[in-house]
Amino acid sequence: MIKVTFIEHDGTKTTVEGRSGDSVMSLAAAQGIDGIVAECGGGMMCATCHCYVDDAWFARTGPRSDDEADMLDCAVAEVRQTSRLSCQITLSDELDGLVVYLPEAQV
Ligand code: FES
Repeated sequence: MIKVTFIEHDGTKTTVEGRSGDSVMSLAAAQGIDGIVAECGGGMMCATCHCYVDDAWFARTGPRSDDEADMLDCAVAEVRQTSRLSCQITLSDELDGLVVYLPEAQV
């Protein structure tokens, strides 16, 4: 299993376990993480699954695609250098221990 820690805007920290091949968004949805809304269900059409990848992990999540970057422009919260759409981050053993921060608002 692959551990992922979600840190909400208020500092609430939740660590859950997912499987290789899951997206960070689907893991959050399955585990009831409030800070991820994911209106489009992972279709990269909503930007309500926005997260900030911890600096130490950002390089390992891989680069954003151009389409992802375009959709991030629609995010409600500030887009930072470490912003990703969590539906576009696929868990793998390399990401065991991943830490992501959630923005104050998604909608
Ligand atoms: S869930 Fe809609 S863009 Fe990620």
